[in-house]
Amino acid sequence: MEFLILAIETSCDDTSVAVIHNQKILANVVSSQLDHSQYGGVIPELASRKHLVNIQLVIEEAIKKSGITLIDLDAIAFTQGPGLLGSLLVGVNYAKGLSMALQKPLIAVNHMEAHILAHWIDHAPELPFLCLTVSGGHTSLTMVQEHPLNHQIIGQTLDDAAGEAFDKVAKLLNLPYPGGPLIDKLAQKGQPHFSFPKPQIPDYQFSFSGFKTAVKNFLKDFPTEKIQEELPNICASVQHAIVNILIERLEKAIKNLRPKSIGIAGGVSANSLLRTKTLEIGKRLGLPTYIPKFEYCTDNAAMIAITAHYKLEKKEFSDLTVVPYTR
Ligand code: KG4
Ligand code: ZN
Repeated sequence: MEFLILAIETSCDDTSVAVIHNQKILANVVSSQLDHSQYGGVIPELASRKHLVNIQLVIEEAIKKSGITLIDLDAIAFTQGPGLLGSLLVGVNYAKGLSMALQKPLIAVNHMEAHILAHWIDHAPELPFLCLTVSGGHTSLTMVQEHPLNHQIIGQTLDDAAGEAFDKVAKLLNLPYPGGPLIDKLAQKGQPHFSFPKPQIPDYQFSFSGFKTAVKNFLKDFPTEKIQEELPNICASVQHAIVNILIERLEKAIKNLRPKSIGIAGGVSANSLLRTKTLEIGKRLGLPTYIPKFEYCTDNAAMIAITAHYKLEKKEFSDLTVVPYTR
């Protein structure tokens, strides 16, 4: 069906607006807040204020890039949660304002569901589709059944998320936030010489809080001057350990649940080793394997737009009393 939708994503520290027409992304503008890097993590109050400043500019750029006229829109979509309350409120209220002014329906989208549906932007994976979703706030294995909006979480993290593990270890190594991309970059120059204990937990579940402690203890025994010298090897070892935990569980789930295709989603799916290893498993097990383009891995509004497209087909609208949720 031909729909024209404008989507807004403000769940954390990226202000993003996308326009989708007939399932094709016409614009996906992302403004990342670099201000948090100096604090070693996202400062919620600062993020919310920055969204207020950025959102109008990002909306205008998305309209310009896509060449649309607002009155032609079929719906306004926004991220309802999970995320930071102050950040979400900016996007939710902007969407409500647009919906009221233009008299167009509102569509509320779950951020984690949208990371999975990012796979439907360029192609439709064969169903059932098993997706490993790995971000700064979540780590889960989800089975998408006969429709993109019909899915079940089959396992998730009991504590920290995989992205959080990357970021916390980066902080221990005095690297700026977000640490995931930096660890990935440094790891390319090193070898995984060091090993860390694996969490002993049931199938399909994840746990990363012990991993951070293990790295902390490892660094305690390491001479300070050596840390700098060994940084690429330490990063390669950390990346190797986190990715192995993820890949082992993904492989177990594939063998037991027999999906028709597999994929990864969320910010950590930008990780080079995770991308390579996921493609390797797919090849070995003869399964079509989907990895979103970089711009659709980290937070973006294009994934909100494609999810909204499917929700519009099903007429899943929200009213003006809709409120954000943080988890
Ligand atoms: O999905 P996302 O953009 O935001 C959340 O919804 O959390 O994910 C952000 C997370 C951060 O923890 C960041 O360090 C991680 O994704 N990340 C990476 C890479 N790029 C982003 N982790 C490892 N390797 C990367 N290349
Ligand atoms: Zn995300």
